[in-house]
Amino acid sequence: MTNDTKQKVREFYDEIGWQQEEGGLYQNARYDDLRPVVKEYVHNTRMRVKRGVEPTGKFMLDAGSGPVQYDEYLTYSQGYQKRVCFDISIQALREARKRIGDHGLFVVGDIANLPFKPNAFDGIVSMHTIHHLPSTEHKRAYLELFRVLNVGKKAAIVNGWTNPALVGWLDKLIVFSHRLRRFLRGKPLRAQPHDKKGTYVKKTNARWLRNEIGQEIPFEIVAWRSASTLTMRTLIHERFGGQAILRWLYQMEEKYPKFFGENGQYPLIILKK
Ligand SMILES: C[S@@+](CC[C@H](N)C(=O)[O-])C[C@H]1O[C@@H](n2cnc3c(N)ncnc32)[C@H](O)[C@@H]1O
Repeated sequence: MTNDTKQKVREFYDEIGWQQEEGGLYQNARYDDLRPVVKEYVHNTRMRVKRGVEPTGKFMLDAGSGPVQYDEYLTYSQGYQKRVCFDISIQALREARKRIGDHGLFVVGDIANLPFKPNAFDGIVSMHTIHHLPSTEHKRAYLELFRVLNVGKKAAIVNGWTNPALVGWLDKLIVFSHRLRRFLRGKPLRAQPHDKKGTYVKKTNARWLRNEIGQEIPFEIVAWRSASTLTMRTLIHERFGGQAILRWLYQMEEKYPKFFGENGQYPLIILKK
C-alpha cells in the first residue's frame, strides 16, 4: 500500500503536476491563489521560511523541491554553496535544474528514506511534501530530516493542517455552498473529473505532531499562512478591501505566531538541532 501510494504520487507529479500548461504555469500552480490582490500576503508568507533556516552554509537540502517554482524560494539558498534539490519526481528535478543550474545538485528519492549521512546539511527546507506520505511514515520523515540536519542548525517545514480551527469550518461551508449552487442550477454536485486532478494527501494537526515527535525532536510551530487558498479565493477580493484584510491578517500572525501557526491552515514548523 505504501509503495503503491508513493508511486501514484510520483506518477502524478511526473505526468501532470510538473507539466506546464497554457500561460507557462505548472498544473500544480492551480492549488495556489495567483491573483494580484493576494500577491503581497502570499509573498510575505513565503519569505517567512527564511526565519526557519540559517542564512548561510555549505549545503541546503530542499526536500520535495519540485521545480523551485516561485522567486521567493530562490532566496532561501542564496547564502549557500549548493542547494540539494531532492524529489521523488524526476520531472520536478528536470525543471529545477533548468531553474537553478549549477547552484543545484539533484537527487531522486523518498523523503522518508533520505540517502544522506547524519549532519550533512546546514539548512533544510521542506514545503508541502510530507503530507504526500501515508500517515504511518510522517514521523519517519521528520526524524529523517532531523538526522541529516547539522548540529546547531535549523530546518523549516511547511505543511497544511487537517481541519484547522480557524479556517477548517469556513472551507467546509464554502464547499457546501458551491455544491448547493450547483444543485440549484441542476448541475452535478462535484466538478467534472478533469477539473479535479490531484493526488494523495494526508494531513495531520498540531496535537499529532507534539504527540509523535515532541519527545524526540525540539521544534516550534509558528504561522506561515493561516488563510487557505479556498478561503482567499472566495472571500478576498479587490473591491471588498481584500488587500487591507490580508495586511491585517499578516500583522495578527506576526503578533500571535503560535496561535495562528497551530490553528491556521499552514504552519511553519522549525526543527532545531
Ligand atoms: C506540492 S509539491 C511542493 C513542491 C515545492 N516544495 C513547493 O512548495 O512548491 C510536493 C512535492 O513533493 C514531492 N514528493 C511527494 N512525495 C515525495 C516523497 N515521498 N519523497 C520526496 N518527494 C516527494 C512531489 O514530487 C512534489 O514535487
